Amino acid sequence: MKNTAQADGWMNGQRSNGISLGDRLRSGYHRFWYEASQAVRWSWGPFRESFKGPLTNLTQTQQQRTDELARSYRSRFENSLPPETALLNYSYLDILDRAKQALGWPVSTNQRVCDLGSANFAYAAALHTFFHPNRLTGVEVDGHRLYCNGRSRIDYARGHIQDLPQTEYVIADYRQFTRQAETITAWYPFVTPKPLLAWRLPLSLFHPAAVFAQVANNLVIGGTFVMVNHSAAEAEVARGIAEDVGLVCAGHYLHEAHLRPRIADPVLTIWHHG
Ligand SMILES: C[S@@+](CC[C@H](N)C(=O)[O-])C[C@H]1O[C@@H](n2cnc3c(N)ncnc32)[C@H](O)[C@@H]1O
Repeated sequence: MKNTAQADGWMNGQRSNGISLGDRLRSGYHRFWYEASQAVRWSWGPFRESFKGPLTNLTQTQQQRTDELARSYRSRFENSLPPETALLNYSYLDILDRAKQALGWPVSTNQRVCDLGSANFAYAAALHTFFHPNRLTGVEVDGHRLYCNGRSRIDYARGHIQDLPQTEYVIADYRQFTRQAETITAWYPFVTPKPLLAWRLPLSLFHPAAVFAQVANNLVIGGTFVMVNHSAAEAEVARGIAEDVGLVCAGHYLHEAHLRPRIADPVLTIWHHG
């Protein structure tokens, strides 16, 4: 309860929650660019990074683990993605795979999977490989964001999902997204305001309780919400918010053996309706 109040208290003006005047000014600046990108909706069409090639400079452990994942999921991401993006996909698949083993998680395939806060959906291939969904949807509020090369996030996202059947990318605020799914995933959702500012988003988009409430609404009875947080501390904040909207934790997994360098150990939690 306390954590939800902390998370949304700032928006109600009840407390400062560590938000400085500088943060508010930054938020205003981010808001300007966010709203400008929403108004312009710039797009050149799907963009695929052309360079592909084998994964290079891997440590022996990375090599072993990527080979193992490629073998067991019959998917070599480097055949269709640039090495950096391929390794990113292995790292997302690695967390899912280890969590599945550790928790005895009975993953259902051929279902509707929705990912919330997908950024440019660079990891869509990993979700597709793991869940074998009959529909995969990535939902992102800031999908029109423009990159330095003149391409927008949706251009990259469309490139990333081009080869994936039954996969789409939707630009929407998840709070207003009303499609049901058997599985909903959220990788590193914002549960405190500072990371949102670091992602150059305005504080007006910080409503974790409302986002999680929408997850509970959109999850079919018997469905699964899979959340990954950056650290145990962040997972603890997220837990308070998820419990407040009626979700019940069915297991959590601390990922200590990272495939890519990380500052903290991510935590994957599995949630069901109460
Ligand atoms: C920390 S980033 C994580 C991005 C991505 N899941 C990943 O693993 O790389 C959180 C993402 O959630 C998006 N987001 C935040 N609030 C949202 C909302 N209400 N609806 C949809 N997306 C949202 C942000 O724009 C951002 O791209």
